[in-house]
Amino acid sequence: KPIYVLSGPNLNLLGTREPEIYGKATLDDVRVLCEQRASSLGRSVVFRQSNHEGQLIDWVQEARKEACALVINPAGYGHTSIALLDALKMLEIPIIECHLSNPAAREAFRHHTYVSLAATGVVSGFGAASYELAVEAAAKLSA
Ligand code: DQA
Repeated sequence: KPIYVLSGPNLNLLGTREPEIYGKATLDDVRVLCEQRASSLGRSVVFRQSNHEGQLIDWVQEARKEACALVINPAGYGHTSIALLDALKMLEIPIIECHLSNPAAREAFRHHTYVSLAATGVVSGFGAASYELAVEAAAKLSA
């Protein structure tokens, strides 16, 4: 089964969105990095992004049956969405929360994420490499 890699709101604009914080790589660049890292480990990824909370929840529910592990950058919804947390709590596969920036070093409202309550582990602060490292962790945990 593939590793699902989900990205939340505003990450479609990666590369042009506050590049001093999130880097110059586009989400397409990040997808290629994830695909390459997965294939080097003999694995595959399903890579998706949505600006919509309900769409992300639908994909998390889908991952219950279709994925071996889930990498999720919930973006702003990590800080707000109990519904996303509730969906994640139904997963029996490893969940790796991933952030490009290090939210713990930023504004106080970014210090808490609901997603962390359901995550197996968190990778933050390494830019696009956070996703690669998260895919690696997902592969290891679901081996
Ligand atoms: C983010 C950090 C969040 O605080 C922010 O709302 C994002 C991106 C990150 O990848 O660093 O949209 O998840």
